[in-house]
Amino acid sequence: MNSAIYAPGLEGIIAGETAISTVEGGLRYRGYAIGELAEKTCYEEVAYLLLYGELPSSTELVEFRQRLDEARQLPSALLNLLRHVPPNTPYMDVLRTAVSALAHFDPDYRTWPKELASPAATERCIQLGRRIAERLLAQLATTVPAYHRLCRGLEPLPPRPGLSHAAQFLYQLSGELPDELSQRAFDVSLILYAEHEFNASTFTARVITSTLSDMYSAVVGAIGALKGPLHGGANEYVMPLLQAIGQPENVERYLREMLARKERVMGFGHRVYKTGDLRAGILGSWARRLAEARGQLLWEQIADRVEQYLAQTKHLHPNLDWPAGRLYYYLGLDVPLYTPIFAMARVAGWCAHILEQWQANRLIRPRARYIGPAPRPVLPLSERG
Ligand SMILES: CC(C)(COP(=O)(O)OP(=O)(O)OC[C@H]1O[C@@H](n2cnc3c(N)ncnc32)[C@H](O)[C@@H]1OP(=O)(O)O)[C@@H](O)C(=O)NCCC(=O)NCCS
Repeated sequence: MNSAIYAPGLEGIIAGETAISTVEGGLRYRGYAIGELAEKTCYEEVAYLLLYGELPSSTELVEFRQRLDEARQLPSALLNLLRHVPPNTPYMDVLRTAVSALAHFDPDYRTWPKELASPAATERCIQLGRRIAERLLAQLATTVPAYHRLCRGLEPLPPRPGLSHAAQFLYQLSGELPDELSQRAFDVSLILYAEHEFNASTFTARVITSTLSDMYSAVVGAIGALKGPLHGGANEYVMPLLQAIGQPENVERYLREMLARKERVMGFGHRVYKTGDLRAGILGSWARRLAEARGQLLWEQIADRVEQYLAQTKHLHPNLDWPAGRLYYYLGLDVPLYTPIFAMARVAGWCAHILEQWQANRLIRPRARYIGPAPRPVLPLSERG
């Protein structure tokens, strides 16, 4: 044990094997470069690729979309629950509760094999798990707009079959069909958020799965991990920062003061990408296109200057949350939606990892380096002062 490798935060440690994605030499999902996927596919194709291992044929895509459409409607009991959540409950907390509650209404979850370690039971888990994954994909994307509308005193809108996943979400928020640019920009953001190897939330899902627990429990845990500002929560800080800076000429002074206070600039830095995140460049160009179309270029000018300053002074580069926070703002989306959107995209990656963990499971149980008191006797209560 003494010779075991220890790295705080597991930095640089290989904690498992995966065939789902790699960040080595640029992010790839199942061998496909992220740039090419963002250019040539839609989110549903990517979700299918993650869950089934291959890109869908056109027939498979049509059937997959049909299954998503059939699963979108939320159980009325869940809608009632959403209506009774105390006002101002954070969206990610509600999403976590909703996923946990959805398990009770899932017909496949109720037929879950009791004995889990045999190959036949694993096969059954994979079969049921894929169906549950599709349901989660559809229902997370309905829960978020439903809760948002309820928060604003509006009734949730029923899903409208036949729309793309991206258009469906935007439609269910506003009741209006998005224009092509908005739909595509949002779709690309979902593709880029869909999967990212052993990030904190995915690793959480795998740890839970490794005990042979169920998919809902693993996704609930993943949502809890994603909520933190060092992970998915970062995209919600982007626009408030740009708004607080206000004008391009304020950037240097504002950031100098922030860094002097040892504050972190959310949307910058990455545990793995130390010279830049490919995804930030891809989504950054969509954010700029939207900003141009919406007459919001002031925020892009401030963002450019923030990027330059942090690269020069701290060698810090933007991660995906930096353009995502701006892009969602240009789409007219309210800030509390941003991390839930990350969750509804990443659920495809989480579920793919849960399925993969089942397929070659080994309980994830690392060791800790003990730094507590040396061995000592327990004093009787009367002698402890
Ligand atoms: C993502 C993150 C947690 C990765 O951190 P990490 O690999 O553990 O890097 P560290 O926390 O060790 O930081 C290394 C140095 O860079 C600094 N740094 C890293 N990210 C920073 C940021 N966003 N703003 C300011 N300084 C930052 C740290 O203060 C530290 O400086 P120091 O050595 O002078 O103390 C970190 O970059 C961060 O907090 N980013 C902001 C949150 C964010 O955008 N999260 C989304 C990630 S996809």
